[in-house]
Parts: sequence; structure tokens; C-alpha cells
Amino acid sequence: SLRESTYFLAKTAHILFFWDSSYAGLALRQSCALPDGLHERVQSALITLQRRGCLLRDLVRIRDRDVFTAVSRALVGKPGYTYRYLDTRLFTIPWHCEGEEQSVKDRLLEKKQKQEKEEEEEEEEDSGQGCSHSSPPSSAPPPDVAGLVEFNVTLINYMDPTAMTQLKEEPYYGMGKMAVGWHHDENLVPLSPVAVYSYSCEGTSKEEPKKEEGEGSEKEEVQKEKACWRVGLKVAWDIHTPGLALPLQSGDCYYMTDDLNRTHQHCVLAGDTARFSSTHRVVQCCTGTLDYIQKRCSEALENLHTDPEKTTKSLKSLLPNTLQHIEDIHNEVFEWLRQYWFQGRRYARFCSWWTKPMEQMEKDWKEMERMTQLLLDVVEDENTVQENRREMADILLNALTDRQQHRQTWRDRCQSSLAQSLPPEEAPFDRPYWSNEDPDMPLPFDLSEIINRVESLLWR
Ligand SMILES: *[C@@H]1O[C@H](CO)[C@@H](O)[C@H](O)[C@H]1NC(C)=O
Ligand SMILES: *[C@@H]1O[C@H](CO)[C@@H](O)[C@H](O)[C@H]1NC(C)=O
Repeated sequence: SLRESTYFLAKTAHILFFWDSSYAGLALRQSCALPDGLHERVQSALITLQRRGCLLRDLVRIRDRDVFTAVSRALVGKPGYTYRYLDTRLFTIPWHCEGEEQSVKDRLLEKKQKQEKEEEEEEEEDSGQGCSHSSPPSSAPPPDVAGLVEFNVTLINYMDPTAMTQLKEEPYYGMGKMAVGWHHDENLVPLSPVAVYSYSCEGTSKEEPKKEEGEGSEKEEVQKEKACWRVGLKVAWDIHTPGLALPLQSGDCYYMTDDLNRTHQHCVLAGDTARFSSTHRVVQCCTGTLDYIQKRCSEALENLHTDPEKTTKSLKSLLPNTLQHIEDIHNEVFEWLRQYWFQGRRYARFCSWWTKPMEQMEKDWKEMERMTQLLLDVVEDENTVQENRREMADILLNALTDRQQHRQTWRDRCQSSLAQSLPPEEAPFDRPYWSNEDPDMPLPFDLSEIINRVESLLWR
């Protein structure tokens, strides 16, 4: 079930965080060094997500252009978390943790004990069997951080190269076709590790014929390697230092640790078969959780006073700082709503977790529209003290100009030909959007007329 799947993905993050080899911040943990039974469970979890239609290509923005990612994705993680990349905010399908009510301290302690136990077990295992394929220099001790890392999301990726017509060639080293181009990761805690479980379907590792002595030209070797999924690394801003392409057998894990993300770029090179990866991360952005944005909404709405008898509304404070703060929040909340609906009905389809909070957020945002209208009334009121009026008009004008621009950008993104090409259940919703006649809405969607009015006040 989906619930079980997300649970195993959550748990995997903790179990997998050991390694026995390292290459300057890049560490590989081979499939055979993972606990028995884990592969089957993780792989079936990934397949479940795929079968349930949870993995979708994102319509992202790169340098003001809309593009589909080659890879299909889903974000699984702590409830209420989001992760932003390429102007796209992904919302987590919540993972289910055992003993959620335990304190963090307990969990860390437990994890440490579990880790020590597994390290012992692992040492025993390691002395026995060897792994079949060659690996980077081994025996580097696991970094100290291992026991303390708490991943809060995993970005799950899926791509079937046979279904892709045009994958870009890796441009600098001739490494082959890229599923994901050269990039740095965004929005992670500095120096935090990324742990990746790689699963290529059709058991590439087992079917590979054993190398015969003296057989296989160099060319064949290269071909064989390109059939494998690989992670590519290069030094940032440098194409002279040779790049590194690390072949990944199905079930292998790799880790990017220390400041590898900062000093290097990485890419993902497509093999011949379909492949999943589960990329566990420690996300930085404290402005990316539902908790955070809900608090912001409450902060803004605190300034709205409703007269209990006349049910009229007014602004409590007209201090410039307060007004500025509220209008900023207004724009921020609008971005959340737009991001959510831009991704169509996908969240409502996979899990109902976000439905209620997003409804509430939209209600709050409507109240903020009311607050902007109240501010506009004050600014346009001849009886308002002239000096204050100017200052308020200035704040309002800046906020409205920003807002108008974002509204236009989001409408354009929704109406792009790529967006229109999506099937109805995946197509973006142009929401919030309303017509000028909407009796529910205090202000129009198109703000240009109001912007002109406020501008002319400032020119007087
Ligand atoms: C990754 O590296 C890039 C380039 O140095 C940097 O801009 C970005 O903030 C880094 N991301 C994290 C999460 O450290
Ligand atoms: C994710 O987890 C890390 C480590 O526990 C924490 O420092 C970070 O603040 C968390 N991210 C968010 C958005 O809360």
C-alpha cells in the first residue's frame, strides 16, 4: 500500500546511512553491502508509487523558459514539508514514521544504538563476501555526522530511457546521454549529505556476463559501462579536470557528503533500462513548511479587526512596518496557492493530506485581499494625514506592482503550450483567478487600474 511504501522509504533513510568507501565526499555503498530483504521492500515501495501514478514530470522554469523534466518525480517526506527547485515547489506525500510521538532525543538515541549494532553486523558481513564490481578506494571511516543526520524528505525519481526521444548528450566529457544535466542541489542544509538509493529495473547487475580473461576490447568496455546508469561528477567551473562517472548497479547507494555540492556539479547519466532513485535530503528552507506559512497567515490576519455588531472590518494598525509585513505575507501566500494548483490535481489524487490546509490557506488569503482593499481605502481617503498617506501609498504600490507581475507570470505558465499539452488530470489550474464581476472578491484580479490610481496619488 501507499502507506507502507512511504514508511519504508522513510526508514530506509536511516538504515542506509553507512558506507565503506569514499571518493572525496562521494561515497558508494554497494548493493551487496545492504541488509538482506531491504532491496525487495524498497524496490516494491518504489514500484507502488509508480503504479499509483504518483511519479510525474514537472513543468519547471529555467531562465524564464518552461520545460518538462525528463525525469518523473514525487516528493515523499515529513508531513507539511515542501522542497523548491527550478521555481517549482513540490509538496510532500507524507511518510509515516513509527513512534511519531517519541521525542527527538529518544529517536536520536535509538538511532545511534541501532547504528552501532548494524556497524558490528556489517563488519562481520564485510569480512565474508566481496562485491562483484570494482569500487573507489575503500576503508574510509564513515563521517561522524552519520548518527546525527535526520533526512526530512526524499525526492523520488523515475525515468525509462526507451520512452524518451531526446536526451541531451553530456557536453564536456562524452559521458553519454543525461537524464539530469549538470547542476548543484538547491535548498539543502549546508554541508548536509544527500543519500541516494538507485534501482535500475531488469536486474542489470545479475545479467551482466562475467568478464573473460583477455576478452572485450576497450570499446566494448565503454559500451557496457554506458548501458549502466551512472552518476557524473565534475569540479564546478572547470572542464579541464577529468570528470568522474560512477557506474551504479541496481541496489547501490551513493552519498554526496561534506561540501561536495558546493565544489562540484553532478549529473545523472542514463543507462539502458528504466531506473528509480530515492534521493534523501536534509532540507534547509525554514520558509518551506506548512507550519511556517500558517504562522505567517495568522500574523497577517491579526491586524484585521471585525466589529462584532456591525460586522464591518478595519485594519488595527496602520504603522508602515506592519503594513509592509502584511503585504509581503500576502504575496508569499499567493505563491503557495499558485504553486499548488499549478501542479494540477496531483496532490488531491495521491493523498488528501494537503487538501484542507490549502482550502484554509485560500480563505486566509481572501481575507488578505480584503485587508489590501481596506488599505487602499485609507490611502485614497482625503482625510488621511497627508504624510502618512504618501508613505502608505508607497508601500501599497510596491506590493501591488510585484503582485501584478507574479499574477501575469503564473497565468502565462498555465497557458503555455506545454501546459496545454497535459492530460486534464495533470494540467495546471489557473487558480486563484477570478473575474472582475466576482462578488466574493474585494479587488479585481487585474490590478493595473488600481496601480495607476495609487501612482497618481504619489505624483500629486
Ligand atoms: C550547492 O552549491 C551551490 C553552488 O556553490 C550553492 O549555490 C547552493 O547553495 C548549494 N546548496 C546547498 C544546499 O548547499
Ligand atoms: C530538516 O532537518 C534538519 C536536521 O534535523 C534540520 O536542521 C532542518 O531545519 C530541517 N528542515 C526544516 C525545513 O525544518
